[in-house]
Amino acid sequence: MAEWQKTGWRGKPRVQMPDYTDAEALNAVEAQLGKYPPLVFAGEARRLKAALAEASRGEAFLLQGGDCAESFSEFSADNLRDTFRVMLQMAMVLTFGAKVPVVKVGRMAGQFAKPRSAPTEVIDGVELPSFRGDIINDLPFTAEARIPNPSKMLQAYTQAAASLNLIRAFSTGGYADVHHVHSWTLGFTDRDEAEKYRDMANRIQDTLDFMAAAGMTAETTHDLSTVDFYTSHEALLLEYEEALTRVDSTTGKWLAGSGHMIWIGDRTRQPDGAHVEFARGVQNPVGLKCGPSITTDDLKQLISTLNPENEAGRITLINRFGAGTVGDHMPKLIRAVQEEGFNVLWSCDPMHGNTIKSSSGYKTRPFESVLREVREFFDVHNAEGSVPGGVHFEMTGQDVTECTGGVRAVTDEDLSDRYHTACDPRLNASQALELAFLVAEELSERRAPRQAEAV
Ligand code: PEP
Ligand code: CO
Repeated sequence: MAEWQKTGWRGKPRVQMPDYTDAEALNAVEAQLGKYPPLVFAGEARRLKAALAEASRGEAFLLQGGDCAESFSEFSADNLRDTFRVMLQMAMVLTFGAKVPVVKVGRMAGQFAKPRSAPTEVIDGVELPSFRGDIINDLPFTAEARIPNPSKMLQAYTQAAASLNLIRAFSTGGYADVHHVHSWTLGFTDRDEAEKYRDMANRIQDTLDFMAAAGMTAETTHDLSTVDFYTSHEALLLEYEEALTRVDSTTGKWLAGSGHMIWIGDRTRQPDGAHVEFARGVQNPVGLKCGPSITTDDLKQLISTLNPENEAGRITLINRFGAGTVGDHMPKLIRAVQEEGFNVLWSCDPMHGNTIKSSSGYKTRPFESVLREVREFFDVHNAEGSVPGGVHFEMTGQDVTECTGGVRAVTDEDLSDRYHTACDPRLNASQALELAFLVAEELSERRAPRQAEAV
């Protein structure tokens, strides 16, 4: 294969990217971004890769989640904190319930560009280009707002940098200290889930008290006071990605400096396309969305291209087939991967195959379908003898009403109450936690027989 260059994608067919009309303005933005510092460092991406390698072997579990699309208008410290907190709560449920370390990766600090099912949108007979995320154009339905504007990349960079700064502070500055496990319950609105969580938090507190009584001091338990939290986004807008791609001075390899992990969307994974070409040359962990249209041949070709050295932790296959259809698609992919001896991490995105239009007209996702797809994912892996290594959710720490169902059932009529997403419907905090309890159950059930066998 030809030697990789960060501009190489420009010679490949591209889809889902805007056609900027002002070439001069675009060049100026790219030059500016090219001078800005990268947001993440190679050592961090390598550490994440090692953690994902563990997850691929069943020694850890990946929890990836956040907004469908981050937005400029919803950007605030409170929103970031709330999403971060839900991730910590979910991770705690998984760690405590399933006794497995959790690799925490936010769809945060860079998740701005969106692929769309149609290039244009028609309202009342008026046709305009689709909204493609705040890094590209604006949401209001006017011709002007929908023109792709390269300067929005600079604002996205600034927001990503500020987000990451706060996330790093939360991760290491005391907020994520496990001794605060109780204070993360603040903001709970749902009784059932809150009760379950508090119960677990009490048990964790007892353990911590015991450890303290047994003489384990802050120094010896340092690992409990900080967390590793990584960022990820779809590497869709390649002008932005290229401008932040840098050589890592310690290894001489390229790094996408825009986030720790990047992924390739289900609509942009053409084996000979621009997005695959870009991703193959950077050393970051790479996610690959696998929807119903992926063939085993495509999958094999994609994995060989993206991970020629078969490095563990490099590739995460993010499966998103839709409830009721996992059994039709996943077994053949798992077998192909097994036959080839590919090292991959299997993760389940139960969101993108389950989007429907509700009777009240809103785009939604029934919580039952989300749960069902997760169960099917675990069942198929159990049957095939492969490792279900992670989950990928669209969720928020806010008490939104975007997905129907859950313990505190959101109905079709409720959707209009607090429907804030700039793109796809997200799980609210209580639905996210409910899901974490389910995943913890699935994981511990699965591990129990194995441990029994080992005895
Ligand atoms: C997404 O993750 O928001 C998305 C668009 O996913 P997919 O590429 O799987 O449709
Ligand atoms: Co989405």
